[in-house]
Amino acid sequence: RTVYVNGEYLPEADAKISIFDRGFLMADGVYEVTSVLDGKLLDFAGHSKRLARSLGELDMALPIEMDDLLEVHRELVRLNDINEGMIYLQVTRGAPSDRDFAFPDPDETPSTIVLFTQNKPGLADTPVAKKGIKVISIEDIRWGRRDIKTIQLLYPSMGKMMAKKAGVDDAWMVEDGMVTEGTSNNAYIVKNGKIITRHLGTEILAGITRNAVLRFAEEAQMTVEERSFTIAEAQDADEAFVTSASTFVMPVVEIDGAQVGAGVPGPVAVRLREIYLEESR
Ligand code: PDD
Repeated sequence: RTVYVNGEYLPEADAKISIFDRGFLMADGVYEVTSVLDGKLLDFAGHSKRLARSLGELDMALPIEMDDLLEVHRELVRLNDINEGMIYLQVTRGAPSDRDFAFPDPDETPSTIVLFTQNKPGLADTPVAKKGIKVISIEDIRWGRRDIKTIQLLYPSMGKMMAKKAGVDDAWMVEDGMVTEGTSNNAYIVKNGKIITRHLGTEILAGITRNAVLRFAEEAQMTVEERSFTIAEAQDADEAFVTSASTFVMPVVEIDGAQVGAGVPGPVAVRLREIYLEESR
């Protein structure tokens, strides 16, 4: 793979980051995952806007112009010949000369930027989407600024492991009895034709896919309600699904061992996946 590090395109084996990088020492950084379909980026505008917001909330500077960042994405897709897959981008608060909790002076310590591609042939046509996924619920014990896309992913990783151990695919997180989101996706249920997903706030990430899917749903005259819901309500729903840049729209067919609806991907989730893939291409 050819990767991008601080202004340079390099073979991945030659790419190096300092051991003092605050991303490495303190998870002091933000990231974005943008999908690639038919060699084209999906909603770069949305991802770059959220990146700028995440950086702003943490007083971190982007070490490159946004227009140039688009070119880096395109160049990596070209150099690595990606037809279907993802681009991972990470910006951290750079590498000061020593470990220190206080933020370094940004004039002395420029932020670090890294991008690499992940080739995923068959991503859009994955058989998983035809079967749907199973989830368990876990307590949401993440920090309180989940609207910022930080690289602090230990708890979501633990959540995926808890799911794996339980023999299922993923976990939905619950706070004060209400579902926040999936470990790496936004969560939805469908009841009597109505699509229900948690309202935005500091408790969840404002998914770029969520934004697009809700827009497409409204354009298709579907009703959308943005509010929180419980696991019991989700188990009793007609359908459930998740959205993210890497899974698009993914049906959920089981929650904590209870079958959702008919236990197969429901018509609304299937239709939204089709619309999303069609409109994004
Ligand atoms: N995850 N919620 C969380 C906690 C996420 O980590 C993600 C994305 C989403 C969905 O956001 P979007 O639609 O913009 O991808 C919601 C990415 C894909 C990841 O960590 O790999």
